[in-house]
Amino acid sequence: MTKKKLALRVISALVVLGVVGYLAVYLATVLFGGGGGDRTAALPQPLDQQLVQRGAYVAFEGDCAACPTAPGGKPFAGGLPLATPIGAVYSSNITPDKETGIGNYTFGDFERAVRRGITPRDHTLYPAMPYPSYARISDQDLQALYAFFMKGVQPLDQKNRQPGIPWPLSMRWPLTYWRWIYAPAVQPVVPLADADPVADRGAYLVEGLEHCGSCHTPRGIGLQEKALTPQGDQYLAGGVIDNYIASDLRGDNWAGLGAWTEDDIVRFLKSGRSDHTAAFGGMSDVVFDSTQHMTDADLKAIAHFLKKLPPSAGDHTFTYDQTVATALYHGDVSKTGALEYVNNCSACHLTSGKGYVDTFPALAGNPVVNAADPSSLIHIVLKGGTIPSTKAEPTHFSMPPFEARLSDQQVADVLSFIRSSWGNNAPAVEAAQVAKLRATLDPPTVAKSP
Ligand code: HEC
Ligand code: HEC
Repeated sequence: MTKKKLALRVISALVVLGVVGYLAVYLATVLFGGGGGDRTAALPQPLDQQLVQRGAYVAFEGDCAACPTAPGGKPFAGGLPLATPIGAVYSSNITPDKETGIGNYTFGDFERAVRRGITPRDHTLYPAMPYPSYARISDQDLQALYAFFMKGVQPLDQKNRQPGIPWPLSMRWPLTYWRWIYAPAVQPVVPLADADPVADRGAYLVEGLEHCGSCHTPRGIGLQEKALTPQGDQYLAGGVIDNYIASDLRGDNWAGLGAWTEDDIVRFLKSGRSDHTAAFGGMSDVVFDSTQHMTDADLKAIAHFLKKLPPSAGDHTFTYDQTVATALYHGDVSKTGALEYVNNCSACHLTSGKGYVDTFPALAGNPVVNAADPSSLIHIVLKGGTIPSTKAEPTHFSMPPFEARLSDQQVADVLSFIRSSWGNNAPAVEAAQVAKLRATLDPPTVAKSP
């Protein structure tokens, strides 16, 4: 056999192997992709008004309005773009419209989509839908949710938008492998060790319905959450979403909730503000669409559960340091960034860095200011922000955007200044970091009213 012939044979053998391998991997998802659940299951109880009403509350707890509602769009009609590293996916129409929504879903179809991430045609949903967390929703709550979406929501005729993901990444079947590897089986929340029913209720809400970890837990190599439950020490240890840092919610005094009381957490979830910080970025939407509508008992349960999570990293406590406040009071702006701070920031956040309670957040001892990654800080200084207006605190206060006013160097200087003043202690910010984030940000978002 000549060399040329041999090479040809090897190449054709490889091609055949490749095609057979591809088919086998693909066929496995068709044959075994079902993932449990029963498509034909019917709602096991009467679909009455009481169940619909309970479902409406569960929908708040599940933050269901946040994604399936596009800005300015009709509730639950879908179309909200959700950025992924490979392109945008759009949330689906989940109104009971029979053509374009979920009007033809049996209870079994609904269960499979919500808790298992599988469509009636056995396709796997993009994990932008948080089914790895929703796997913990109880049967009772799921039944109420189904009743609400079938009878409590207005059907709307609006076709789903196709994802903006290019081929071959747009093929859906590989997602089945993702689901097999990363999505847990449908299972109840594992109670914490110390037989505390309030914490267990909190765990159920945080891990399951509210899926707080989808933003607050760091993600691994497959973009999966590194831990879905408190049994993992990376659970709620801080994540990145839309160029904001979703803070560490564990017990660290410095970057987490160590210095917060349970009441602080309840107040923050109810009103979007606390003595420590004000809600911005994705958290504004969570407060506006979900947590402000929850009962005090449920918010207390969440707070009680969060306060049980031990710190994830080495810890130290904040002590206020008077030096910088005294210098600024005497007109000494020799420290780098001090002049920018006095000219642009101190009118609201004060030379003491203590702000005004419930109006302008304190920067001294603020976990957002002390976070290792400065993305949130750069983002909010460039684009500004508005504390959400809630039933508990209707006034919204805004911080203006500084993108047109301050150069990359000035933003870096003023942030390095607040990260090293009043007892704060976090690494300096570089102009290059500001330039990089500035290049990726969208135009400012519009404030919401109640
Ligand atoms: C007109 C008043 C005002 C000015 C001026 C102002 N801020 Fe703010 N700042 C606010 C308000 C209000 C918030 C809360 C915004 C939100 O929650 O979306 C805020 C939030 C912040 C936060 C996030 C803190 C948190 O926990 O929510 C940081 C950091 C911050 N400001 C830094 C600065 C810096 C640096 C400057 C100057 C370059 C500045 N601010 C100027 C009013 C102001
Ligand atoms: C869509 C993403 C997203 C979800 C879901 C989300 N958060 Fe947040 N959260 C953020 C971001 C971003 C921040 C940082 C901005 C801020 O402080 O408001 C934040 C901040 C917070 C803070 C303030 C922490 C600090 O140190 O400043 C608390 C408390 C909090 N979230 C609790 C929760 C709880 C409880 C849930 C579930 C009910 C939740 N979050 C769900 C994005 C999210």
